[in-house]
Amino acid sequence: MPFRSRITGTGSYAPEQVLTNFDLEKKVDTSDEWITERTGIKERHIAKGEAASDLCLEASKKALQAAGVDPGEIDLIIVATMSGDMPMPSTASLLQKKLGAKHAGAFDVNAACSGFLYGLSVADSFIRSGQVKRILLVGAEVMSKFLDWEDRTTCVLFGDGAGAVVIEQTKGQRGILSTRLYSDGTMWDYICLPGGGSQNPPSSKTLKDKMHFVKMKGNETFKVAVRTLEKLVVDTLKENGLKPSELAMLIPHQANLRIIKATAERLHLPMSRVAVNLQRYGNTSSASIPIALDEVVREGRIKKDDYILLEAFGAGLTWASALIRW
Ligand code: UT7
Repeated sequence: MPFRSRITGTGSYAPEQVLTNFDLEKKVDTSDEWITERTGIKERHIAKGEAASDLCLEASKKALQAAGVDPGEIDLIIVATMSGDMPMPSTASLLQKKLGAKHAGAFDVNAACSGFLYGLSVADSFIRSGQVKRILLVGAEVMSKFLDWEDRTTCVLFGDGAGAVVIEQTKGQRGILSTRLYSDGTMWDYICLPGGGSQNPPSSKTLKDKMHFVKMKGNETFKVAVRTLEKLVVDTLKENGLKPSELAMLIPHQANLRIIKATAERLHLPMSRVAVNLQRYGNTSSASIPIALDEVVREGRIKKDDYILLEAFGAGLTWASALIRW
C-alpha cells in the first residue's frame, strides 16, 4: 500500500493584544456596523514586539505536544508566510533554531492567503514520495506591520496569528486525499505589497509612497473569490467522488463571512458544518485555516474518518483546496 500523509497534531497562537472594531472607529473613518456587515469581523489580535517566528514557535509547541512528537524527530519545517521575520533567512530556519529541531530542513512558502494549503500540498508530496516521515507545517502572519493604519479599506480587515500542524507518514485510508493548487498572475495587482522587493527596492521614495503596505482592490477581489471558490469546492468533491452531504466540515480561509456563506450555500452545507472564527481574528492570511482547524479539533467538532474540505483564496491571485479524511 502506498504512503499517505496524515495530520497528527494541531496548535495555534494569537498575540495577546486585541483590537476591536470600536478601537478602529477611533483611528479611521469607519464603524463597527460597516465592518460587521461587510466582513463579519469584530476584533483581531495585534502583535506587539513579536515577529512571525515567535508566533510560529507558540503554535508549533502546541502542535508537537498534541502529536506527541519531539522537535528532534522533525525532518522538515515549512512555514507559509508573507510577513516573515526578514526576507532572508527564512522564518522556517529561525523557527528551527527556536525549537531546537536539529535534524530538520527548513524553508518558507509564499502563496499569500493560500500559503498554508500550498504548504500542505508540498508536505503531502514529500511524505508520499517517502523522502521524509515527519513535517512541521506552520502558517503565520504579522500582517499588522504591513498595514497602512490610515487606510480604512485595508487596516480593518487583517489580524496576526499562527497555526501549526504535524504531518506524519502513514498507511491506510485516513489522511490527505487530494490537494489542488491554482494561480492567475494576471490579477497580481488585486492584492499586493509593492515595495521592498527587487522591483521597488526600499528607498525614501518607497517609504513616502507607502509602498511597504498591503494594497487591495477589495470589491474586484471579492467577485473573483466568490466565483472561483464556488467552482473549486464543487470540483474538489467531484474529483474525489464525494457528495456535499458526505462532508463533515468545511474549513475555509477566513477573509469575509459573505464569501464563506456563498461557498457553503453552493454546497447546501448548513453553517453548523462550516468553521468560522473571523469575528475573533480578522483575516490572518496563511494562518487562518490552521487556526480554524486547530479550534475545531480542540472543540471535538471533527471525528476520526470524517471528510473535511479546506479551501483558500488570496494574492497572486492564488487559490487552493485540500480534502482530508480525518
Ligand atoms: O484574503 C485574501 C482575499 N481577500 C478577500 O477575499 C477580500 C475580498 N474583498 C472583501 O472582502 C470586500 O470587498 C471588502 C470587505 C474589502 C469591501 O467590501 P465591499 O462590499 O466590496 O465594499 P467596497 O469596497 O465596494 O466599498 C463600499 C463603500 C465605499 O464607499 P463608496 O465609494 O460607496 O462611497 C468605500 O469607500 O464602503 C467604503 N468603505 C468603508 N466604509 C467604512 C471601504 N472601507 C470602509 C471602512 N469603513 N473600513
